[in-house]
Amino acid sequence: MSLILAIESSCDDTSVAVVKNGRRVRSNVLASQLDVHARYGGVIPELAARTHLEAVHPTLEAALQQAGCTLDDVSAVAATFGPGLLGSLLVGVSVAKTLAWWWNKPLIAVNHLQGHIASTYLESTLEPPFLCLLVSGGHTQFWGVDAYNQQRLLGETLDDAVGEVYDKVARELGLGYPGGPLLDALAQQGDPTRYRLPIAKTKAAYDTSFSGLKTASLRLKTQLLAEAEGEELSPQVLKDVCASFQATAVRTLLAKLQACSEAHGYTQWAIAGGVSANSELRQQATALAERLGISLFLPQRGFCTDNAAMIASAAYYTPLHQGTAAWEADIFATGSL
Ligand code: KG4
Ligand code: ZN
Repeated sequence: MSLILAIESSCDDTSVAVVKNGRRVRSNVLASQLDVHARYGGVIPELAARTHLEAVHPTLEAALQQAGCTLDDVSAVAATFGPGLLGSLLVGVSVAKTLAWWWNKPLIAVNHLQGHIASTYLESTLEPPFLCLLVSGGHTQFWGVDAYNQQRLLGETLDDAVGEVYDKVARELGLGYPGGPLLDALAQQGDPTRYRLPIAKTKAAYDTSFSGLKTASLRLKTQLLAEAEGEELSPQVLKDVCASFQATAVRTLLAKLQACSEAHGYTQWAIAGGVSANSELRQQATALAERLGISLFLPQRGFCTDNAAMIASAAYYTPLHQGTAAWEADIFATGSL
């Protein structure tokens, strides 16, 4: 039996998890920094790093306690090495290295994107090959996962990530922080057909572009405000703008997913990353997959946004020779898989 303890601290959430055999989540504890950053309307890297430092030990203790095990029982220790905020990553990686060294366990370096892909294995029966749509605050990518640890990047956004656009549009609409879930909640009460927003054309069939949708949404807001002659947007107009934006974003993603899947012959889909928690995306993807006879795997909502359980799962599927190189590996801010 393998029991992996993993630490995720790449952005603004401190998380520690214990996962059995890459799939069974024994614990997945999360210390959110939402309150710390909310008043700034975004993540402040220096504050994030300091808050990780305060949160990491209590989170570690809670994860071990909930899993009902000690560090002696653990088979390996894993951490996210990047991409992410360097100060934040340093905290999780330093703690993981210390634990692995003191308890004499293998140390496994995990790429955050690999972690999101592996979130679709948690408590599920999904096995490669499958097509994974990865939608987060920093990425919008189509991965052909042909075997564990063997994936091809088949397409990605040419400009903004879809989560980033959700957050930006939500901020401009005055919804607050974090924008994605707030916009999603309002959109569910609005009319998605009220406003027409553009679906960008891209040269490569499976690439996406979201900056045009962002600009058009912000222009729509300015135009509606002008029509309101100095008044605020009415609650119903606001909900309809959110619903129209959300419908367009989801339609764009699913049209590309279908095209990419048909071109490469996949019969299984997975959707991962923070935006995979989106209600409309989950609903529409489920309906489309059903219509096409595709098996769709959606992570439980708690595994969509950043968490350590997905890092433990990715570590389980990392070949050990790559894992041992973790002692020499450096943390990194940007990049892909
Ligand atoms: O994967 P994640 O936690 O962090 C990154 O690796 O970026 O994703 C965070 C992103 C944010 O942009 C957030 O607004 C978005 O996921 N998000 C959502 C929803 N929940 C989180 N976007 C749309 N609808 C949601 N329900
Ligand atoms: Zn993430």
